[in-house]
Amino acid sequence: MNNKIEFNKPFTSNKDKKYINDIFKNNKFADGFFQKKCENFIKKKVNSQFIALTQNCTSSLEISMILLNLKKDDEVIMPSYTFTSTANAVLLRGAKPVFADVNLHDANLNYESVRKKINKRTKAIIVVHYAGNSCDMQKFLELKRQHNLILIEDCAHSFMGKFKNQFLGTIGDFGTFSFHETKNLVGGQCGAISINDKKYVKRAKIILDKGTDRAFIGNKKRYYSWKDIGSEFRSAELPAALLYSQLMKLETIMKRRKIISETYKKNLRSLKNRKFEIIKHNLKNKSAHHVFALIFNSLRLRESFIKYMKKKKILCYFHYYPLHISSFGKKFNRTQMRNTDKIYNGLVRLPLYPGLKKTELSRIIKEVKKFNLVKT
Ligand SMILES: Cc1ncc(COP(=O)(O)O)c(C=O)c1O
Repeated sequence: MNNKIEFNKPFTSNKDKKYINDIFKNNKFADGFFQKKCENFIKKKVNSQFIALTQNCTSSLEISMILLNLKKDDEVIMPSYTFTSTANAVLLRGAKPVFADVNLHDANLNYESVRKKINKRTKAIIVVHYAGNSCDMQKFLELKRQHNLILIEDCAHSFMGKFKNQFLGTIGDFGTFSFHETKNLVGGQCGAISINDKKYVKRAKIILDKGTDRAFIGNKKRYYSWKDIGSEFRSAELPAALLYSQLMKLETIMKRRKIISETYKKNLRSLKNRKFEIIKHNLKNKSAHHVFALIFNSLRLRESFIKYMKKKKILCYFHYYPLHISSFGKKFNRTQMRNTDKIYNGLVRLPLYPGLKKTELSRIIKEVKKFNLVKT
């Protein structure tokens, strides 16, 4: 009898508890040691000017939008095929999210669709490097220069991915990372922001710490004061300790994810009469291998695939409900997005995590192949 194959499993072990136990030993639960250790590690690893550890990617997006000084009627372009946090960050500042279409081959933001939506109210573009695969940053950097826009990289999926030789999140003005339980590295709920233009750093430190200048005072002075708007955007110590432990096994995590993705690709790409496309990425860029997706050409096929795999005890899922057709998102945008609709209807994610056993991987591949033969 086959065991159930989960869709995702955080790559944790008893070793991860060591750092959490250290917090109890030190009896220091906030403003602390692991937060700084993670920040220094990530900053060095991705070669960033400034990294702050945050509560989550959502907070990092919100910080970016505060730093932009968005006003009512300002517009920020983003894919419709993303998580709600990308759009909420804009709305929370009273500005307007404008949804653009994605590419069919990689589900990343489509350059032409973005270009057509730029007008005098446009202040920024948020790209999402879907599945851990880089958007075409050269083109988006060109748009940024031509129209004097701010470029934000939502790297919820793409920590350690690269565009050419540069780490994702360090190319635009801001990069926002997620270390949620479902992501490549797990801090429970945790995130980071990379600030790539030094002019924003001073204000960012104030915003991160509830609008105070405490970060500049260190241990020397007793008093700090209220300088700006802000919130408690900084990560707490418990998630930071877990994340630090994950960072210590970063190479293993990334290597295993890469092997699994490449095994899927190698085995499925050569199938005859394929009922699906395989999500693509430009081989000049390094993928973070967050998602491995098949794209079917109808909702009916996608649903029958998910059902078939479930029957075989293999959990596979579709992904975002596009924002432009969601009940809330319809209030801001009513445009049609052909590619986004197709991706929403057709895309299915296969299990991908470091703890996936070789036998499980072979079983998944075998079942995908069998489904491909079934008359549908
Ligand atoms: C593209 C994207 N942006 C932002 C987020 C929010 O991340 P977090 O849960 O760390 O706030 C997610 C969550 O899955 C996401 O997929």
